[in-house]
Amino acid sequence: MELDFEAILTTLRQSSLYRKLPNSDESSLYQFHSNDYLNLARHDDLAKMAALAINEHGFGSTGSRLLSGNYALLESLEHSLADFLGMEQVLVFNSGFQLNAGVIPTLYGEGDLILADKYCHASLLDGMQLSQATMKRFKHNDMNHLKLLLENHRCHFKRCLLVTESLFSMDGDIAPLDTLQQFTDDYDVDFMVDEAHAIGVLGDQGRGLCSQFGIRPTYLVGTFGKAFGTFGAFIATSREICDYLVNRCRAFIYTTALPVPVIAATKQALVLIQSMDSQRKQLRDLSVYFMQMMSEKGYGVLGEYHILSLLWPGNESLLDRYRALQEVGVNVSAVRYPTVSKGKERFRFSLKSSHTKADIDYVVKQF
Ligand SMILES: Cc1ncc(COP(=O)(O)O)c(C=O)c1O
Repeated sequence: MELDFEAILTTLRQSSLYRKLPNSDESSLYQFHSNDYLNLARHDDLAKMAALAINEHGFGSTGSRLLSGNYALLESLEHSLADFLGMEQVLVFNSGFQLNAGVIPTLYGEGDLILADKYCHASLLDGMQLSQATMKRFKHNDMNHLKLLLENHRCHFKRCLLVTESLFSMDGDIAPLDTLQQFTDDYDVDFMVDEAHAIGVLGDQGRGLCSQFGIRPTYLVGTFGKAFGTFGAFIATSREICDYLVNRCRAFIYTTALPVPVIAATKQALVLIQSMDSQRKQLRDLSVYFMQMMSEKGYGVLGEYHILSLLWPGNESLLDRYRALQEVGVNVSAVRYPTVSKGKERFRFSLKSSHTKADIDYVVKQF
């Protein structure tokens, strides 16, 4: 039967669920909706390295990694990242979504158990669903619930994977990685940590929260589209698993490798990130200031780091306020149901190291 696209779109419009692509070129003065936490996306050094790479090697990679697209710069980035993270090997993918949706079903399948935090990103969720493994989700950061699931179900499966984000992309809080690691040891479970929002910003020299907690998951995932200011993603794991992914992961095999300038800029971002302690400190200070200012106005916010959310229930009310904020030059993500559950609609503020306390004062004044 044919889908009635118009009817579906009309229903979405009527219930404030309709999504429309905004124009990112219209620059508002106060931008709190970007993942460019360290302001690397427009950094001169990244542009310089990208231009040099284009002059020397051209723009496109010309093919998949297993054909003509496996250039030296890409392998060199993988080695540098593995060193940086203290992991055996790294494999670069074209995006975090592609990685999560592709890797999980390559490594797990029917007859396996996957346990995941309820607030895991859509790409992780899609990967789990595609895998056809038995999937159980535990309440967000609820270790009692996770323990119960492990007690009740772990023994019925040969292989089990536990999935979490380190800094959660929506609530901006962090997972109890030490307890999770202990569970994975106690119950013989593989452990996947998605550090998309932590890598570059948190941990010693930006190594992320696994490094900060002193844990070594089976799989550490990170993206370049956020603090690195570029594009792409990586998985850090054992040599053997990387080898297996090169041989079996369709999302890795059947796609054109990332363009040369993207990798050149990402390599430069990795160098810069390691010396950006002052920017990381600025982000910490700004997040504390933001929470304090909101609290003085009587608002509690979710999160403690560079992602901070102000709950604003109801799609319609959120959109009204969103438009009013745009009119006074403030751009912030309005996150609606169904991206978050009903009643948990919110403004999601992403802080950048270039923000100032005056920027925050201005934004808080609008509430
Ligand atoms: C936790 C998490 N994982 C993965 C992704 C996807 O990464 P990418 O933007 O590289 O596709 C995101 C991006 O929003 C994310 O927040």
